[in-house]
Amino acid sequence: MLTWRLVLASLVTALAVATASSQPARDPTLKTGPFKDYRQWARMNATPVFSATHGNAFVVTYVNPTGLPAARAGKFPFPPGSAIVKEAFENQGCRPGGQGAVFVMEKREPGYDPDGNGWHWVRYNPDGTLWGEGKSGGPMDFCRACHSVARVNDFVFGNGTSMKVAPTMPPTPCVK
Ligand code: HEC
Repeated sequence: MLTWRLVLASLVTALAVATASSQPARDPTLKTGPFKDYRQWARMNATPVFSATHGNAFVVTYVNPTGLPAARAGKFPFPPGSAIVKEAFENQGCRPGGQGAVFVMEKREPGYDPDGNGWHWVRYNPDGTLWGEGKSGGPMDFCRACHSVARVNDFVFGNGTSMKVAPTMPPTPCVK
């Protein structure tokens, strides 16, 4: 009897610890999750731009209202709450085709990831389900690693967009 009470007590403790330490769960889908309204944000390029670094796809970049002044004026760092969404379209003979993946940079407090200026990285599959999200030291660190080339612009490249950034990479034209 005593053993069972002990087991039960430790189970309850374990559960309480697990609940306290985990972040409140966010909706993991693009359609109903925290970035669902991205198509209503400011669109940074009139026509999709070819992107060799995101699966040779065509991409359109959107910036939310919190991040817009920094993006337009080139005044970095982006404030916490900024979000940048890059929507990709398949490369069909060097023209934008069907829906591709959706990439997100979400600015949190600087302490969230000091190595990555506080950016949180998210990638959704073309059907809007979550592919992955995270920061330095996890499986999504490859996002930050490549974007650190653009550290001078707070990790933002802005290639082919109206964002005001210092050039950090040559343009990536669509070569047939
Ligand atoms: C090999 C380098 C590389 C990797 C890896 C990479 N990116 Fe990018 N990213 C770029 C470049 C270059 C641009 C500028 C536009 C372009 O050429 O596609 C960009 C643009 C973006 C943008 C628009 C803001 C900006 O910087 O212009 C977002 C959002 C983004 N990437 C998210 C991600 C996420 C999320 C991942 C990981 C799943 C990722 N990227 C992985 C190179 C990379």
